[in-house]
Formats: sequence, structure tokens, C-alpha cells
Amino acid sequence: MARQQSRYICQTCGAAHLRWEGQCRTCGGWNTLVETVVRDADTRRRAGSAAGSAGRSNSPQSLSGLREAELVRIPTGIGEVDRVLGGGLVPGSAVLLGGEPGIGKSTLLLQAAAGLTASEGRPGGEVLYATGEESAGQVRLRAGRLGLLEGAAADRISVVAESEVGRIIELTREARPIVLIVDSIQTVTIDELDGPAGSVGQVRECALRLMEMAKGDGIAVILVGHVTKDGTLAGPKTLEHLVDAVLNLEGERTATLRLLRATKNRFGSTEEVGVFEMAEHGLAEITDPGRAFLAATDEHAPGSVAGATLEGTRPLLVEVQALVAPGGYGSPRRTASGVDANRLALLVAVLGRRAGIGLGSHDVYANLAGGLELDDPGLDLPLCLALASSLRDRPVPRDLVAIGEVGLLGELRPVPGLERRLREAARLGFRTAVVPGSRRGETPSVAGMEVIAVANLRAAIGHAVGGGSAPAGEHRPSEAEEPVGGSSRP
Ligand code: TYD
Ligand code: MG
Repeated sequence: MARQQSRYICQTCGAAHLRWEGQCRTCGGWNTLVETVVRDADTRRRAGSAAGSAGRSNSPQSLSGLREAELVRIPTGIGEVDRVLGGGLVPGSAVLLGGEPGIGKSTLLLQAAAGLTASEGRPGGEVLYATGEESAGQVRLRAGRLGLLEGAAADRISVVAESEVGRIIELTREARPIVLIVDSIQTVTIDELDGPAGSVGQVRECALRLMEMAKGDGIAVILVGHVTKDGTLAGPKTLEHLVDAVLNLEGERTATLRLLRATKNRFGSTEEVGVFEMAEHGLAEITDPGRAFLAATDEHAPGSVAGATLEGTRPLLVEVQALVAPGGYGSPRRTASGVDANRLALLVAVLGRRAGIGLGSHDVYANLAGGLELDDPGLDLPLCLALASSLRDRPVPRDLVAIGEVGLLGELRPVPGLERRLREAARLGFRTAVVPGSRRGETPSVAGMEVIAVANLRAAIGHAVGGGSAPAGEHRPSEAEEPVGGSSRP
């Protein structure tokens, strides 16, 4: 029988305390400690060795003497998922799939489960789907919508609405699936442990037990974790260093595009992204996402500029939109969606001081089409051009793409992978590119595209928006008039 002890775990930072206290000594949070049962080292060790660590010896061996572990991978059959995983799921590994509620995690996993059962030539491709979020009936409803009720998948995916971890483990050992999906880790609990489902203690302990089982029995587990509004996996955050891979499903619930990104992957690269579209019958892969994030309309208004970003190794063309409107009383607004608000404020200040685009008294809105969220500095230039275009009320040519980081002096800085971005833009029909000039004077040449290398923001605006006079009625303060940083204050 396992000896068990109590610890008091901070729900904010995960620090363990021996006694209950009102305030966490580590992070200073009040009333954040929750009693949690901890198994002692003995039990852990036993569980560890029961976990069939065959071939693992505890005496040190020279690097050359180590045998390379043979990595078996089980493909999910969904190319975009396999790409992010690095080829497929590895037996005995644990994957955490994070994302906002309603973004499509359950949908993606049910589709992946179907793919896992369907791949040919493997014995016993069963998947167990344990859900604490929905009833089995609801899962069936979704499966119907996804068209999974016919064929092999329907027989080989078992669903159980269970939220007690011990029971889930028992069921898994009976059913012997190749993959166990737990949806979500915040809804499962351990009986002998105090604290509500979703608390740090519960989440950690549940995950640890599931992972022990996974290692021992050679089953891959996928844990679903909901992210909170501020973008962190509150409870699941503490699991990130335990699991083998952390995947995040991103996007805006109101938009249809979804990105699957690996922020950690012990069995593959974290460079790759998968791109999906939420359609009527589940998530559809977008295998050629180059154009996906460009606005689909024919509308060509001032304030829209195409940029080219790199997601891992894949170039993506995105439409950067800006709207500049005369501000009312009080501090002008700076509203950003998809780009960093601080970055927007900084660029507004640089535009005012270094490029004669004074926005100090204007409200400024910036947006990336398609609900994408990016922090690529290469989008600085298209954003600045979009702002200038909106202020001057002049559209930027549709076949122009802008790439470059903007420095505080208004200078343009090179970005990685410029040539790859340009080639993708040329492939998609862009004919002109405004890029940072390199000090050595080498500008990549791309077939079918005029690449204009410029040194600073002012020159870039001259090429893309035109340096001409502003429309009537617009007040354009000279650089000297624009207050330093005044336009960056929110
Ligand atoms: P879901 O997978 O339940 O999200 P999560 O598990 O991350 O909370 O996805 C929910 C949304 O996806 C829901 O609002 C409806 C939408 N959806 C579709 O648009 N098409 C579909 O085929 C399915 C199954 C869901
Ligand atoms: Mg769900």
C-alpha cells in the first residue's frame, strides 16, 4: 500500500509547502495553497520500475555504448498533425494539446483517433477516448457530424465518459488501446486527493499517473488542456516540462482558420505548424497555406498591405490591415488584434518621428486578416505601410508585398529567410517587394518579381504609398512638431 503524505501546493506557481499558510512563500499569492496528496519516493520508484523500463540501466554508460532507441511512430493519418508531431505519435509518450475552449481540440482528436485506427498493417489499432467534458452520446453526435460512424473507425474507437484517473487506467489496461485520449486533464480527478478538478495538484497528479501507465504499457497518451484567457495553460502549464510534446491549437473562434503549433517536442522539431480550416465536417487540412491568410475580398481599400511571414519552415502571406481615424478628446486609441499592441504603439511613434506620418492625435487600429496571431518582426514594415496608406488615404498596389523589421531610428533591418518569403510571394502572384537593403548590397533576385531594397521607412513609404501631398484637410505635422513618444501612449 502506498504511503501517502499531504503537501500544500500553490495553485498559481506550483510550489509545495509542508503546512497550510495564507500566502504562498514563493509567488506571494494569497489563499492559493490547496492540500494535495503526494506519494513517497518508494512508491514512485516501484511504479517506475513496473513501468517496464526494460533495457534502462542505472549505471552510467559511455555515449558510444548507448544503443539508439528505436522510434516507432504511429501516424494519425492527418498530414498536418503528423508534420507537427514529427511523423506520428510515439508509443509510451505523452502529448499535451492546449487551446482555448471551443477552438476545436476535441474535434481534431476525434479525427486523429479515426486516422489512428485506420492505418493499415498494424495489429490492434484501437483508441480509447476518455471524456470528462461530454457524455458518450455527445461524442457520438460529433462523430456523426465528422462522418466517422461508418467504417473501421467506428468499431475501433471506444468512448468512455469517466473522470476518475484510477478507473481510466483500469479501463485502458483492459482495452489495451495504442492511444489513450483524455479530454480534458482539467476534468479528471484522483479520489484520494483533495482539491477540485482542474486544480494544480489534481492536474499534476492525474497527469503523472497517466504518464506512468503510458510508459509502462507502451501506450501513447494525449491530454487535452484548456488555456485560460491570458494565454497560459493554468493547471496544465505545470505539465509542460513533464510531457514529451506540447501542441497548441490556435486561432480565433469566430474565424475558421486554425494553426497547430508545437511549443515543445522531444521527438521532432518545434518549427513546424499545421494549418486547418474549421469546416462543416470538422477540421480540414490546408496543405498549401500560402494564400490562406490573405483577405479573400476584391475590396482594395487604403490601409491594407501584404506581408510575408515564416511559420517554422513555411512561408505564409498575410494581409496586414490598419485604420487611422481622427481621435476624439483624451488619449487616442491604439487597438491591435493579431499583432502586439506595444509593438504597434512603438511603430506609431517611429512613423511620427522618423517618417513624417504623424498619428499623435489619431485613433489607430491594426489587424491581421484570418484571425492569425504573429510576433514576427518582419511584419513591422507592412504594418507601417498600412498605417501610412490609411492616413494618406491611398491604397498600396495589390501585387506589392513588404517585408522588414523597423528599428527605432526608422531604419529597416533584415529578417531571416527573406529569399524563401519572396519566392512564395512570387509564386502567389506578387510582382513587387519592398525589403530592407542589406549593408553588403546583396538583394535576392526572384524570378518575376521586382525587389526594391530600401534603407529606411521614409523611402519604403515613398515606394509603396507615394510621397505626394496628403489629401485635403489632413494636418501633417513636421517631424519636429510630433512629440517624442507622445503617440505611443495608449
Ligand atoms: P470542439 O472540438 O468542441 O472544441 P474544444 O474541444 O477545443 O473545446 O469544437 C467546437 C467548435 O467547433 C464548435 O463551436 C463547433 C465547431 N465545429 C464545426 O464548425 N464543425 C464541425 O464539424 C465540428 C465537429 C465542430
Ligand atoms: Mg472539447
